[in-house]
Amino acid sequence: TGLVTLDPGFMNTASTTSAITYIDGDEGILRYRGYPIDQLAKDSTFLEVAYLLIYGDLPDAETLEAVTRRIKRHTILHEDFKAFFTAFPANGHPMAILQSGISALATYYQHTLDPKDPYQIELSTVLLMAKVPTMIASIAKRATGLPLLYPDASKSYIEDFIRMTFGLPYQRHDVDPAITRALDMLLILHADHEQNCSTSTVRMVGSSHANIYASVAAGVGALSGPLHGGANEAVLEMLNRIHTGGDTVDQFMTKVKNKEDGVRLMGFGHRVYKNYDPRAAIVKEAAHDVLQRLGKNDQLLDIAMGLEEIALHDEYFIERKLYPNVDFYTGLIYKAMGFPTQMFTPLFALGRLPGWIAQYREMIADPTTKIGRPRQVYTGQPERQYQPTDKR
Ligand code: CMC
Repeated sequence: TGLVTLDPGFMNTASTTSAITYIDGDEGILRYRGYPIDQLAKDSTFLEVAYLLIYGDLPDAETLEAVTRRIKRHTILHEDFKAFFTAFPANGHPMAILQSGISALATYYQHTLDPKDPYQIELSTVLLMAKVPTMIASIAKRATGLPLLYPDASKSYIEDFIRMTFGLPYQRHDVDPAITRALDMLLILHADHEQNCSTSTVRMVGSSHANIYASVAAGVGALSGPLHGGANEAVLEMLNRIHTGGDTVDQFMTKVKNKEDGVRLMGFGHRVYKNYDPRAAIVKEAAHDVLQRLGKNDQLLDIAMGLEEIALHDEYFIERKLYPNVDFYTGLIYKAMGFPTQMFTPLFALGRLPGWIAQYREMIADPTTKIGRPRQVYTGQPERQYQPTDKR
């Protein structure tokens, strides 16, 4: 069987070539299709970035308008989903419901499942971009028991998502443009991150030519873990625990450094960034702006800044090159916007959606793609002989 190399966690193995996202972890650089993340975060919109990731270049005004219109035509979810969502316990985790919901799209759009048919790939791309925000808003509503809202094509993509999440029937729901802009920006920051755990999962599942819904649903599952997207929820729980008097900031940091009960400073550290995560720098600034704008003086922000201040000057963190990652400050913004903690990771999923789609499509279009099938180093028993139970 030849020589195999053991590389736990794929620390040193490139699984693919890709022309989508560039990261230089030592310098703290992130670019989508060549564009620096800070420029996109400042001036672009989520739908424009989605187009950039999926098609390779920024759209001109006419193309962007046509794509936006096409997505808006498909935002309504099949009515069956109302019953589908109520089939889960009301307190079931939104990520579990979202994973199931995306997977279920394959049963409704059976004419879009063939990854080798360009027409079907195009349509499934539009359907996913259109329906996932409606799905996430419906899942949020299901958790509270409040009535679902239908999409409104006259609103912008992000504004309508916020309206569907928080609005009520027959009540005007004006969304502060600064909040819409902040969420747009956060989704841009999450839109792709090359071969991270969930994206690698999407590619792995898709490499068997599984349809895009099955592949993206698997990505949602990977994202839900606290070492990946689930970290944004875990950060807020950590800050809450410190705030409600579990430990002081110093006591907590001592536990982290002593690795007591495997406690980690959530929202810190990254496989690739050995420098400040460029996304975290932008999010930190946004956290201050949004909280100020909403007039919310959240003590959890002070705790977070206190933790960061200690970490940046502490030998344990310096030695290991641990810096805040994108998840450290995002939860504080989502909380200020009114999202319940359990909705934080679905917001990450919405942001990462165009990245998953772009990577799936790149993988399918690449003639050198082979089914993902890692090898192993066997450490079990050598051959032995079966014995009947009375001889064991
Ligand atoms: N707190 C305390 N110690 C840490 C942390 C942390 N957050 N992260 C890493 N370390 C230590 C770790 O214990 C190890 O120490 P030692 O060398 O003494 O054994 C060393 O740093 C290297 O860590 P690792 O686990 O080998 O690094 P990795 O590249 O396998 O893991 C990571 C990367 C992101 C999973 C990890 O840093 C972590 O668990 N962070 C907390 C969870 C988190 O914030 N995840 C979000 C990641 S960014 C966005 C996303 O993907 O969602």
